[in-house]
Amino acid sequence: MTKIKTALMCLIVGTGLQANAQSMKPVYSDNTRTVEERVTNALSLMTLDEKVALCHAQSKFSSHGVPRLGIPEIWMSDGPHGVREEILWDSWNAAAWTNDSCTAYPALTCLAATFNPELSHAYGVAIGEEARYRRKDILLGPGVNIYRTPMNGRNFEYMGEDPYLASIMVVPYIKGVQQNGVAACVKHFALNNQEEWRGHINVNLSDRALYEIYLPAFKAAVEEGNVWSVMGSYNQLRGEHCCHNDLLLNRILKTDWKFDGAVVSDWGGAHDTKQAALNGLDIEMGSYTNGLSSKAKFGYDNYYLAQPFLQLVKKGEIPLSVVDDKASRVLRLIFRTAMTPDRPYGRFVCPDHSETARKVAEEGIVLLKNDSRFFPVPVGKYKTIAVIGENATRSVTQGGGSSTLKVKYEVSPLDGLIERYGKDHVVYAQGYASGLTSYDREEPAKVDTKALLDAAVAIAKNADVVYFIGGLNKNHFQDAEGGDRKQFNLPFGQDKLIEAILKVNKNVAVILISGNAVAMPWVKEVPAILQAWYLGSEGGHAIANVITGAVNPSGKLPFSFPKKLEDNAAHSFGKLSYPGDSINVFYKEDILVGYRWFDTKKIAPQFAFGYGLSYTTFEYGKITTDKKTYSPDETIKISFTLKNTGKVDGAEAVQVYASQPEASVMRPAKELKAFKKVFLKAGEIKTMELEVKVKDLAFYNETTHQWTVESGEFVLRNAASSVDVKSSASILVK
Ligand code: BGC
Repeated sequence: MTKIKTALMCLIVGTGLQANAQSMKPVYSDNTRTVEERVTNALSLMTLDEKVALCHAQSKFSSHGVPRLGIPEIWMSDGPHGVREEILWDSWNAAAWTNDSCTAYPALTCLAATFNPELSHAYGVAIGEEARYRRKDILLGPGVNIYRTPMNGRNFEYMGEDPYLASIMVVPYIKGVQQNGVAACVKHFALNNQEEWRGHINVNLSDRALYEIYLPAFKAAVEEGNVWSVMGSYNQLRGEHCCHNDLLLNRILKTDWKFDGAVVSDWGGAHDTKQAALNGLDIEMGSYTNGLSSKAKFGYDNYYLAQPFLQLVKKGEIPLSVVDDKASRVLRLIFRTAMTPDRPYGRFVCPDHSETARKVAEEGIVLLKNDSRFFPVPVGKYKTIAVIGENATRSVTQGGGSSTLKVKYEVSPLDGLIERYGKDHVVYAQGYASGLTSYDREEPAKVDTKALLDAAVAIAKNADVVYFIGGLNKNHFQDAEGGDRKQFNLPFGQDKLIEAILKVNKNVAVILISGNAVAMPWVKEVPAILQAWYLGSEGGHAIANVITGAVNPSGKLPFSFPKKLEDNAAHSFGKLSYPGDSINVFYKEDILVGYRWFDTKKIAPQFAFGYGLSYTTFEYGKITTDKKTYSPDETIKISFTLKNTGKVDGAEAVQVYASQPEASVMRPAKELKAFKKVFLKAGEIKTMELEVKVKDLAFYNETTHQWTVESGEFVLRNAASSVDVKSSASILVK
């Protein structure tokens, strides 16, 4: 018996099928081997055709495995707020399955507004479980493009304007997803900061802006989050499409950051075989809309990284090492996901997931204004509550482009409020109409807008209080992929409607559902404003809980709300700076994005980054540091007290900003360097302890191409928002 086994082993080794002596399995399918051993072994057994096949799609959302060796295909799904419905093999049409209605989680702007990395982890775990249950290997998210302009139609899919906040929040999301044996796919790398002309617009920006503002969250995703895949973006950087951009993919991502996973193209983001082959793309997806067969004009075999790639390799124009590198990366991804040992089975639409979705929603809602303690409005306070606005009933999980979801359920704000207050106390009027949600197309509503407005004013007149629930939605030219907003003001006549309501009833709260800042011409006249994002399946419950006081709001804005569009940095420099001239866009504000601009240029925002009210009040003690002088490799230990001075329990996201008053280069007035979310009972006092590494006070030096910390004075400030500084402390870096 032993002799036979030994003989068999020799035979297998001799043919390259090295096997584990105990299991007789080839190394690549042996779970006890390391991923690298498995990759090397699998690669050694594959033909050139099989390797090339790994590098491109076989359907809309899947790419090849190695059928001969039993190495499975890769199945992907959007992302980033829920697991998308199944669609057909070769078209975007729904597959009409009955088992694919998911839990919708709040949009990532809301997650960022929680300032709570633990919730980000819970979010990642939950969505990862859903992806796993649905047998997905890659979840196409999270998105971390920086919020540069409120006109960007996709801001809702990202984590705001600050690179530090996004970096801290993205890592636990990725870890949560990947602990399920599902790869996260951080996107869109990089500079996809507008949808207008997204397929080709060439971004021109300084190295400082690139490294200090637009790359850090991706870097954190790779270096701290160990993300297994990255999606290239549609736009160009310095004349090369980002899905095959030598600087971004070869030099920064794969060399500097040592990314060992696979780069996936955005759908249709590849444009050239040589560039795709040589500039770092590993899996080409979505290049044509009907990739049917090798005979069809635009079949999958015609993808840039399919036959054309194979031919160039065969001709010797592309070295074999390039194919091997790509195939290794794809295999690594498969061994980390579909072929990983102990992969959990996942869970789908369960009470735990609803609870996570609700908690994120509740913690992300931001109370922007609350004159005379308008909120909370407990049950029983008013007899008649008028709820006005289309967003009180409209689905916010559908539309928006690729993040659209087919959900198991979605609690609307109106349903949530009726559940709390009782149907006898709530009257509803739509007030305005926006039309149907269509991809890439605007479909204005065909309704009598005056009749809608009149009906709303009529119920407002007789109500004790009005909740206006409006904002943007997921229609084209609103918060949606493929187009930017056309106006900064609220659309569909909402400003006019709010003014009309205010004429008959002053007791009005505005509840905004959006992923973007909007103009607020009525800001002084309404006593209360709530920023409520796209909150997913549990949105209505979360809104009702905050409004009635069951939950004390603790969200903080992850981006600044300008008073007028021109106050926003990108818009201060005219069209070339946004949206560009259709060929190029120039980031003329450089590193002064978001609050960095408002603070440095002393422009008052309408609502500042990091701002958000609570039903309680907090008193900040003076900031102190453990030492006065630090060397560049040390960590500054910061502490101050925080007291809940109000009558209700609540949470506060305390923030620490740093600045360098005298530097050899321009530095922003303030930059976020640490934050912590803390829950305090009424009257409770706690000492906050936060840390800032001295090396994180660096700027990107364009001359030396190094991160540089200059010696000298730095000022650290504890703050409740970017404009609400409580105290400061100076330290010296030697
Ligand atoms: C989007 C990606 C998305 C992909 C697949 C693209 O249009 O930009 O974010 O993951 O489609 O749906």
